[in-house]
Amino acid sequence: MSWKLTDRLAEKINHYSSFPATGVSLRQMVQFGQRPNPGTLFRGAQFLGEELPIRLAHRVKELNNLPDGLSEMPSIQKVRNWYAQSFEELIELPRPKIPPQLRELLIKAQRRDTNGEHYGQKLLENTENPSLAGEDYREITPQKKKSINSRRYFVLVDDDISWSPEIHEYNKLFTKCLSVIKKRHDPVVTTVAQGISEYKHSRQRMQIDSTIQSFLDRFYMSRIGIRMLIGQHIAINEQPSTDNYVGVICTKTNVRELAQEAIDNARFICQDYYGLYTSPQVQLVCKPDLNFMYVPGHLSHMLFETLKNSLRAVVELHGPDADNFPPVKLIVAEGNEDITIKISDEGGGIPRSAIPLVWTYMYTTVETMPSLDPDFNKSDFKAPMAGFGYGLPLSRLYARYFGGDLKLISMEGYGTDVYLHLNRLSSTSEPLP
Ligand SMILES: Nc1ncnc2c1ncn2[C@@H]1O[C@H](COP(=O)(O)OP(=O)(O)OP(=O)(O)O)[C@@H](O)[C@H]1O
Ligand SMILES: [Mg+2]
Repeated sequence: MSWKLTDRLAEKINHYSSFPATGVSLRQMVQFGQRPNPGTLFRGAQFLGEELPIRLAHRVKELNNLPDGLSEMPSIQKVRNWYAQSFEELIELPRPKIPPQLRELLIKAQRRDTNGEHYGQKLLENTENPSLAGEDYREITPQKKKSINSRRYFVLVDDDISWSPEIHEYNKLFTKCLSVIKKRHDPVVTTVAQGISEYKHSRQRMQIDSTIQSFLDRFYMSRIGIRMLIGQHIAINEQPSTDNYVGVICTKTNVRELAQEAIDNARFICQDYYGLYTSPQVQLVCKPDLNFMYVPGHLSHMLFETLKNSLRAVVELHGPDADNFPPVKLIVAEGNEDITIKISDEGGGIPRSAIPLVWTYMYTTVETMPSLDPDFNKSDFKAPMAGFGYGLPLSRLYARYFGGDLKLISMEGYGTDVYLHLNRLSSTSEPLP
């Protein structure tokens, strides 16, 4: 833990944070990863080499400027330093030396590539002489700034080029750097949650206010985006796309299979937690061959979280010793625009006054919070039945990330319906804070 945020680094972060982030859509990610050659991968690395530092810089700034002393909490500072350190590693990565002919080819590819605006060869020049690094970054003209902002994620590069070892080396080096960063940030959600607890204690606050709530929404949404880009880049560099997979995206995500798996997992956890002979049943209504392009990991997460909530409500309403429980229903509908999944339970519902609270982080009706070890090496809250108060707000962010949404309607005294809308057009760009 000897890493320090120097003034010089702070200044760079400040500079990068003046650039807006560039959104990428699910469709673009698939296009990019479908048949990547070393050249496309290289261009992808170049895009991320600028995009990720911009996104990280925004987060560092925000973590430094939280209201009411939250920025001073030790766990928040810890997370802030992770972001700054990852920023530093990315911008300090040595740039590759590209042989002139190859440069020429890459520039041509950039020019020829049609679906988008043309902005010539500026981007490639930036590679060898990065306009944003070093001392000269203050001299960027608005004109140049614009050209940097119109960086593109996906550039088609010819297949029949022989790639110099420098390109291969750089692709390897960049992917390695991303893996280190991804691992460093695994415990971010738990550590920020820890930071919020520290804040609640030191300030004697019971609930977090709306400024902190919207900070957390922005922060975690941005984290989903950063991890998606990083995860996707690592995946397409490490394994070639197989049948239906392009990186972590599955072009034919089978909803029924994923739902069944989430049901089995949630029922297992529920049975274990309450010591039941058998968990409440879950009826699944879904066409067997219903599939669409999505990130299976995200969908599993959302289904698992909402199912756990429903199972818990049912068991707690009827008591763990009940002879039988009313089943939970999971219904999947296929529309042109959305795939909608409804999870209905007869778990007694939520009082109307508590509805806004279910979307706030750390709101839970579990009495004792499960132990929260900030150093444990998991990327998300998993396994425990309930108790962190992160299940719903985080799931909603996952849904919104690709243009969907999560809604909850409850009848107090009867049960709850959760609607998970998933956009199937997938050309919507990431929501950027
Ligand atoms: N289907 C449901 N029926 C009744 N209450 C629910 C339902 N879903 C959520 N809730 C209420 O909303 C609260 C927040 O849910 P959320 O999933 O965000 O957190 P949690 O389940 O308490 O903890 P975790 O982060 O581990 O999921 C729950 O504690 C519960 O009181
Ligand atoms: Mg939950």
